[in-house]
Amino acid sequence: MESPSLCYFALATFHFCFIINLVFIGQATDSPDYTLIHQESDYEIRLYEDICWMSAPVVQGISFQKSTKAGFHRLYQYIHGANLNASELAMTAPVLTSITQAPNGSSCFVKLSLSTDYKGTYPQPNPELNLQLEKWEAKCIAVRKFSGFAEDDNIKEEVQALETTLHDHWNGTLENKSSYTIAQYNASYHLSGRLNEVWMIVSGFGA
Ligand SMILES: *[C@@H]1O[C@H](CO)[C@@H](O)[C@H](O)[C@H]1NC(C)=O
Ligand SMILES: *[C@@H]1O[C@H](CO)[C@@H](O)[C@H](O)[C@H]1NC(C)=O
Ligand SMILES: *[C@@H]1O[C@H](CO)[C@@H](O)[C@H](O)[C@H]1NC(C)=O
Ligand SMILES: *[C@@H]1O[C@H](CO)[C@@H](O)[C@H](O)[C@H]1NC(C)=O
Ligand SMILES: *[C@@H]1O[C@H](CO)[C@@H](O)[C@H](O)[C@H]1NC(C)=O
Repeated sequence: MESPSLCYFALATFHFCFIINLVFIGQATDSPDYTLIHQESDYEIRLYEDICWMSAPVVQGISFQKSTKAGFHRLYQYIHGANLNASELAMTAPVLTSITQAPNGSSCFVKLSLSTDYKGTYPQPNPELNLQLEKWEAKCIAVRKFSGFAEDDNIKEEVQALETTLHDHWNGTLENKSSYTIAQYNASYHLSGRLNEVWMIVSGFGA
């Protein structure tokens, strides 16, 4: 049991780094549009329009970093031809890792937005990738930016910081207290100037 899975992770890690470098090199990436509704030094509230995400459910219980790699690997295959149309799709940013804590365990999804160029008709993913389409209606998101690499060691405190700020300074409600999302914008080979964000869905703004 032990050695094949270690080996798998070592290989997967290698491929992931290699892949993500290829994906980002020299390509302008598309990002979902939003309107900035409110801005403070340590957080902002954005209104995102409808977005379609391709979402990879990931086995619960493994680390944030391993979950993100495992999910992104499947999404990478999808945009590079592992779909029923054998089409190449545009890479987009950010890559989301959404984690929901429940009493009986947490669930995790890694997501990539689909370019609006497809106007709602997206190529179906190959079934063995186990991907699902997730449609968002317009949503307000509270965002906290942070730099460096998003890792198991630092995401908890960033999430906590956003929760505390919202609790103290913002007059709306958190849609889902037990869910948070980490958004990553840069390829792994960028050692500095990296941008990540914590996202939490909020409602009640401007009511
Ligand atoms: C938790 O339990 C509920 C109800 O039984 C189930 O629908 C859900 O999938 C479970 N969640 C996880 C992460 O196992
Ligand atoms: C995918 O293929 C189907 C069937 O050939 C076609 O109807 C559909 O328009 C194609 N979708 C895209 C996004 O190319
Ligand atoms: C908070 O929201 C309530 C209800 O919408 C409103 O009455 C109150 O004025 C708001 N307070 C601030 C500080 O915005
Ligand atoms: C909130 O969390 C529950 C699980 O606890 C999940 O089923 C639901 O989809 C989440 N809602 C949003 C808006 O993310
Ligand atoms: C990381 O991504 C952000 C958002 O797209 C961009 O502004 C920044 O320049 C990128 N950093 C590097 C080092 O490319």
